[in-house]
Amino acid sequence: MRVLVIGSGAREHALCHHLSEDPSVTEVHVSPGNPGMTAVATVHDGDPVALARDLGVDLVVVGPEVPLVDGLADDLREAGVRVFGPSAAAARIEGSKAFAKDVMARAGVRTARAEQVLPGEDAPLDRFGPTWVVKDDGLAGGKGVVVTTDRAEAEAHVAAVHAAGNPVLLESFLDGPEVSLFCLVDGGTVVPLLPAQDHKRVGEGDTGPNTGGMGAYTPLPWLPEDGVQRIVDEVVAPVARQMVEDGCPFSGLLYAGLAWGAEGPSVVEFNCRFGDPETQAVLALLRTPLGGVLDAVASGRLAELPPLEWEDGYALTVVLAAEGYPASTVTGGVVFGGGPGREHDGVLAAGVAADGDRLVASGGRVLNVIGTGATLEEARERAYGIMDSVTLPGGHFRRDIAAGAVEGRIHV
Ligand code: GLY
Repeated sequence: MRVLVIGSGAREHALCHHLSEDPSVTEVHVSPGNPGMTAVATVHDGDPVALARDLGVDLVVVGPEVPLVDGLADDLREAGVRVFGPSAAAARIEGSKAFAKDVMARAGVRTARAEQVLPGEDAPLDRFGPTWVVKDDGLAGGKGVVVTTDRAEAEAHVAAVHAAGNPVLLESFLDGPEVSLFCLVDGGTVVPLLPAQDHKRVGEGDTGPNTGGMGAYTPLPWLPEDGVQRIVDEVVAPVARQMVEDGCPFSGLLYAGLAWGAEGPSVVEFNCRFGDPETQAVLALLRTPLGGVLDAVASGRLAELPPLEWEDGYALTVVLAAEGYPASTVTGGVVFGGGPGREHDGVLAAGVAADGDRLVASGGRVLNVIGTGATLEEARERAYGIMDSVTLPGGHFRRDIAAGAVEGRIHV
């Protein structure tokens, strides 16, 4: 099977890496990719539909949300190409927070109370707080959300989103530890992957602004034993069924971002694609060859797929960000002297560019390191051991990924 992956981050590097290890996958292509992936995929740049046709691929896997919301999966299907990723109609579950709230309300799924505020309207901040959750009701890659106890900061974010011409979504704050559960979904069929936890704030101790994610670990030792099944039964399956009933069935990866509160799981948000950086940790433990799994979803055969097999133990990923991220990013520092063309064990490249035979930082989140181990402590030690061998002037990362779980500080 020949596969084309669309995207350029560490998530796509992880997808390419695991696809390249699947014996049924003969070729892995990626577009636009990055020069840190060349050991596992052929990097292209061009229109995805034309590329898929020219390369004669059997399957396209779309990584990021923007092309999905813009209808890339529909275009590929119309061109007769099998694709892992939802239609534009189904991708609204991420593209429009208001659409997602409406589906959840009709499916009876627990989520935050929300009000949409259009540009020009006054935001009813009095009806929310003392912790305000202010979202850009559009695509912002996780960076359009401000969670704050400072009313002035909430007001400023409302003004900024409105100034950009977008509606704001005000939400009640959901208390409790966060869980990311990724599910393969093919119409009404739902197969969960391992539960993971992201660390969205830039600073240790969950301080500073939200980012695209600074690290993640899987599975979650503190989650109740029936936690994954409850999320499937109470959240993902009802939403998948509702979307079938509404005539926009979901096909691909449905990502439930949840808070586990006193009543169990409540939805913070849905995404229509693999999450970054959780995917990098989750796929590190998947024993079932990835190509066959994604192809089963793309060809409507998920219900026939044998149960997924997983390695025992834990996986952890830590993100190395460039100086200044997320506010303003300094590029150009040398990351590896080893350069493109080979993989560095336990390293997935994201914001890197080739400079001769070196890789240099070209974007906010530069790379991920991955550690696995029989215990979460061991996975942490491995990941941070790799991180200590990487140098990037001014680069920064969080030292406390999974620390709360290891120290038993997370309770539900
Ligand atoms: N883990 C956050 C995201 O993928 O949006």
